[in-house]
Amino acid sequence: MSPTPNTRAYGYTDTLDAEHYVTALRSDIRKGLTSTPKSTSPTWFYDARGSELFEEITQLPEYPLWRAELGLLRQYARGIAARTGARSLVELGSGSSTKTKLIIEALGPAGLHYVPVDVSADALHQAGAQLVRDYPGIRLHALRTDFTAPLVLPELPEAGPRIVAFLGSTLGNFRRPARGPFLRGLRDIMRPEDFLLIGADLVKDEQEMIAAYDDDQGITAEFDKHLLHVLNRELDADFDPDAFDHVAVWNSTESHIEMRLRSRSEQLVKIRELDLAVQFERGEEWITERSAKFTAEGLREEMAEAGLRTQELWADSDAGFVLVLATAD
Ligand code: TRP
Repeated sequence: MSPTPNTRAYGYTDTLDAEHYVTALRSDIRKGLTSTPKSTSPTWFYDARGSELFEEITQLPEYPLWRAELGLLRQYARGIAARTGARSLVELGSGSSTKTKLIIEALGPAGLHYVPVDVSADALHQAGAQLVRDYPGIRLHALRTDFTAPLVLPELPEAGPRIVAFLGSTLGNFRRPARGPFLRGLRDIMRPEDFLLIGADLVKDEQEMIAAYDDDQGITAEFDKHLLHVLNRELDADFDPDAFDHVAVWNSTESHIEMRLRSRSEQLVKIRELDLAVQFERGEEWITERSAKFTAEGLREEMAEAGLRTQELWADSDAGFVLVLATAD
């Protein structure tokens, strides 16, 4: 699937060998589909096709987050570069690295260390090949890993101050109780000269928030159901994607959007690799992703609780999106 390391123009580390991936997938799916309500990690969406579908989502008129963040980066990337003096950039959930280019250009690509971190090997390879073509002097160290587990970064001698970027409101894909330990984990790998850059979507009109996860063209529905194809392939399951409907719901208690797959009928699904048969009632909903919506103050507090001091907060008030630059306390 991927080129051999010595033909690549950049470093590549894969901590998710086939065994790790399958072990984590099995345990998350077993646990998630035997709980009430059924609920699984969004990590598994992002194989090659899933990453492609997500790129399509970012271009949808209903999904303004992506453009809002792009706009903020266009406006403030130079300021971020000046403020941080960073010579290395780590990006969690880098995907296509499209927006990151703005930061890379502002920091000056020649000699810059860029560490894209993603679960999708294909996304890393496509973005990696493109980046070394566009920026011949860049030093790229792609890292395939699941960043929901404690993060180990490659040793980069003399790589200067770092920016750890976590864009696209991906922080919101963790639930509130998990965000504290996750942010603290990031703080613990930050040195005094390092910065954390977080992009987060804010609470807004309910219909607008829901539409962003349930578009008219049905791309998000296709993305949601793509999980079933992944499970059929990886775990020898027999999910019928037509037997489920995609729904997006606003959960005001937890301040997040839930993406759910709703079973159209009572059904029993076999997951052979898990030796498991999962019963779905008619209308039963399985939560496949959560996306928290923040308030600027709430986010600042959450970060402070995790030992992260907000240095700058830039807001796109039309779109309701913020970029936060923080240091470790
Ligand atoms: N971090 C993005 C978000 O929560 C991820 C995302 C956007 C997403 N749209 C999605 C994930 C649709 C799954 C399905 O907004």
